[in-house]
Amino acid sequence: MKYQALYRKYRPKNFDEVSGQKTTIKILKNSIKNKKIAHAYLFYGPRGTGKTSIAKIFSRAVNCLENNNGIQCEKCNNCLLSNEKECVDIIEIDAASNNGVDEIRDLKSKINFVPSELKYKVYIIDEVHMLSIGAFNALLKTLEEPPEHIIFILATTEFNKVPTTIVSRCQTFEFMKINENDIEEKIKEISIKEQIKIEHEAIEEIAKYSNGGLRDAIGLLEKAIAYSEDEINVNTIKEISGNISNKELENFLTIFENKNIELILKKINEFYNSGVDLIKLVNDLIEHEKNIIVNQKQYDTNKCLIIKKLDELVNNMKKSENPKIIFEVTLLNMMLDSEIENNNKNITEKKEQTEEIKKVNSEQKQNIKNNLKEIRVSNTLCNPEKQIIIDIRAKWNELKNLAFDTEYGNLARLLSSDIVPVAASKQNIILTSKLVGLSEQINNDIYKVDKIFEKIFENKYKVICLSENEWNQYIKMYKQDKNSFKYTEEHDILKNEKTSLREKARELFEEI
Ligand SMILES: Nc1ncnc2c1ncn2[C@@H]1O[C@H](COP(=O)(O)OP(=O)(O)O)[C@@H](O)[C@H]1O
Ligand SMILES: [Mg+2]
Ligand SMILES: [Zn+2]
Repeated sequence: MKYQALYRKYRPKNFDEVSGQKTTIKILKNSIKNKKIAHAYLFYGPRGTGKTSIAKIFSRAVNCLENNNGIQCEKCNNCLLSNEKECVDIIEIDAASNNGVDEIRDLKSKINFVPSELKYKVYIIDEVHMLSIGAFNALLKTLEEPPEHIIFILATTEFNKVPTTIVSRCQTFEFMKINENDIEEKIKEISIKEQIKIEHEAIEEIAKYSNGGLRDAIGLLEKAIAYSEDEINVNTIKEISGNISNKELENFLTIFENKNIELILKKINEFYNSGVDLIKLVNDLIEHEKNIIVNQKQYDTNKCLIIKKLDELVNNMKKSENPKIIFEVTLLNMMLDSEIENNNKNITEKKEQTEEIKKVNSEQKQNIKNNLKEIRVSNTLCNPEKQIIIDIRAKWNELKNLAFDTEYGNLARLLSSDIVPVAASKQNIILTSKLVGLSEQINNDIYKVDKIFEKIFENKYKVICLSENEWNQYIKMYKQDKNSFKYTEEHDILKNEKTSLREKARELFEEI
């Protein structure tokens, strides 16, 4: 027999075999029982949750002549016919593979023919959001006056992309993620039927990994079967799913808590090189920290702060073209941030010392940084020149030329992908960043940014980066009173920003 992928082999054949989606199934069964069939249904929700499966089941159940409580009998003439691959009255159109104009046109021309064999002709249009505008319009016409014997079942993972004119003509059903227990049960059931030995913990890991999608869960099981010679264990699942074990996560967090900059950058590189999805890694760290808080049952402000920062980090990474750099820079900053105190009990002397230095320096440093920001913004806005900012924007892409520079590469990439220049004078430039916290990170390296600008734009600029919020505040001030911005000479003390730790971080960061 031809090999069949497991997820196909175990496609549910009737409503009772479906996991979850209880409300949807109840309504569909009742409509069959009460003979109140709508002309168009729209199924939407995440992938692998049963939309296509239920569409197929419904199209057969609704045609069964001896239907019992919504479950087709599998014996009547219609059930036998609808089980055939060549059944002409159940038509599946995959809008993802063709944009459907021809199919829909074809459909329109045939639509008034009565079903050849069954009670209802059912059109299943999968990934309906992919239809072209032309196809949507054609579909809309048929939905406006659907013939008695026709049922449309539209399915999509992207509800928002389906025109409201279509949605409003359909009975809609939201498909939910399938809960972990149900997924575990299904995986167990399939393992037994396939006579596969699998640890319970491995089943749990599959359920956790698949995030509510049964198709992904079954896919992972299939991969694990191909991979293991003996019983499938939890480590195999972690390995093939690219997941990081709890032990590794703990190890990583210890390095983080010990503020070992060198090691943390090395670890990140190791993860990165072995193909770990860094965004997923941060999500795992959040989950791990959260579990610790829950288990401790006490409010841990430090951990909560870390979670909050990691959460911002995930959002920033998703928006960035350089998630790895954002990850590294943010983690280093968190390690150097005196707000996040170290809770580790066995504090070494060396670390006490650095904590001490940090406490003394942090206030002073913040003042210096704020000062510098004010001065540079002021110096830009007291004499802004439109042409300069236009010229800078025109050459912005050239930042990419520095992308692989050992000294400036990281910063240049950050600048070119996530930063926008908004104002400039002859000697100053203001940048803004949409990403939370990124402007501060840039400012931590602002003298280096100055150098980058000197290289690219061939002029000695003093640069400063603002968050969008800060920039909006300044615009407001500017509109109220331009003259409040005065020119001030930058003093040399500003360059005495000495933090041994931060310096060290920089050096290391550039080495890697
Ligand atoms: N709710 C579910 N109950 C049982 N199996 C499911 C369910 N959802 C998905 N599956 C499994 O995943 C496979 C793909 O599901 P499918 O119905 O095509 O998902 P969707 O159309 O929502 O992406 C099915 O063949 C089945 O093996
Ligand atoms: Mg589908
Ligand atoms: Zn039947």
